Amino acid sequence: NLSSSKAVFEQRLCESLFISFARLEAPPAVRTMTTYLWLDCDPGHDDAFALILACHGLNPAVIVAGVSTVCGNQTVDKTTDNALRVLHLLGRDDVQVHKGASKPLIRPTRNCPEIHGESGLDGPDIPDAGREASDTPPIVAMAKAFEKVLQIPSATPTLVAMGAMTNVALFCSVYPEIARQINLVFMGGALTKGNTGPTAEFNIQCDPEAASVVLEFPFKSITMVPLETTHTALVTKKIRNRMRVGPSYIPPNDDTGTDTTVTATNRFRQLTDEILMFFANTYSKEFGFKHGPPLHDPCAVFFAIAPEKFKTEKLRIDVECSGTHTAGTTVVDWWRQSPEKPLNVDVVLDMDVESFWEAMCIAVDNASAACPLR
Ligand code: BDR
Ligand code: CA
Repeated sequence: NLSSSKAVFEQRLCESLFISFARLEAPPAVRTMTTYLWLDCDPGHDDAFALILACHGLNPAVIVAGVSTVCGNQTVDKTTDNALRVLHLLGRDDVQVHKGASKPLIRPTRNCPEIHGESGLDGPDIPDAGREASDTPPIVAMAKAFEKVLQIPSATPTLVAMGAMTNVALFCSVYPEIARQINLVFMGGALTKGNTGPTAEFNIQCDPEAASVVLEFPFKSITMVPLETTHTALVTKKIRNRMRVGPSYIPPNDDTGTDTTVTATNRFRQLTDEILMFFANTYSKEFGFKHGPPLHDPCAVFFAIAPEKFKTEKLRIDVECSGTHTAGTTVVDWWRQSPEKPLNVDVVLDMDVESFWEAMCIAVDNASAACPLR
């Protein structure tokens, strides 16, 4: 029948495009939409969990087409090495990593050792990946990948940006015809309160000019996952216990019991828990988060794979590039005071947090099973 031969055709096309598609053991009898993710990131403790969710989420119709890195949480050499290590930990050495911008478009580089440490992923000792990043620059690789994905009729090509938007600004400037057919989801910006500035969020503050180029560009869609949303995804002690143990974990039903720490059941769970422990400590020290750190970047991946779990509103957002106190702020025109400017961003206002953690825990379980380290 028509739908199954279409699925077979797509599967064949997929297999000829990316080695990573090989993980799909059998095509679903009828595939409706397949989401192809390109992950642009700066790992980064929360970026590491975004890679876990994207690479090992429950939905087989989500395919990671490639990963690119950018300077941000640490230098691009460090974030690239971290991306390679994390993918190795996940048993996903098949996913190519492309080293991107080593500095913002105009401004000097800034990093975030106070939250992510000197390596950008301080805490666990994740073994070296034993492979290098690809020689192909990220924007070239993204263009090639998306060009092919766009030939698949039922594909949803999505670029998820989880760091400074330098690579994304270069991509849409050099390949506008491809970029305008792509959905962009980014973790970044704040509606009111910033984290590394009074009103500015770190990813946007790192490279405001790049973010401004991106938000002016007519992508097929742009979705912003701001701090207000990611601050609802707190890694509580209960969540950490669940991730240490796996699906058999039964939380104690008295409140005090959730503070009891249980032991990680394998090396993968131990290493990923060490990522969370470091992140919890720096968030507690720097921002006073006592109930666990916010796991920002996976929220953007979750939007890309389960948009029905979010509430959004289409708004006009501009990026402040010149303010003395506000550079890097995402300025929201709540009352349409500039009606001549098109509404450009679907802003996430709410997320189903319980569903997010459910998906994240399942991804950790799958990644734990796939991890080559014992
Ligand atoms: C963002 O900044 C980075 O430190 C995190 O990885 C996240 O992408 C949060 O402001
Ligand atoms: Ca990040």
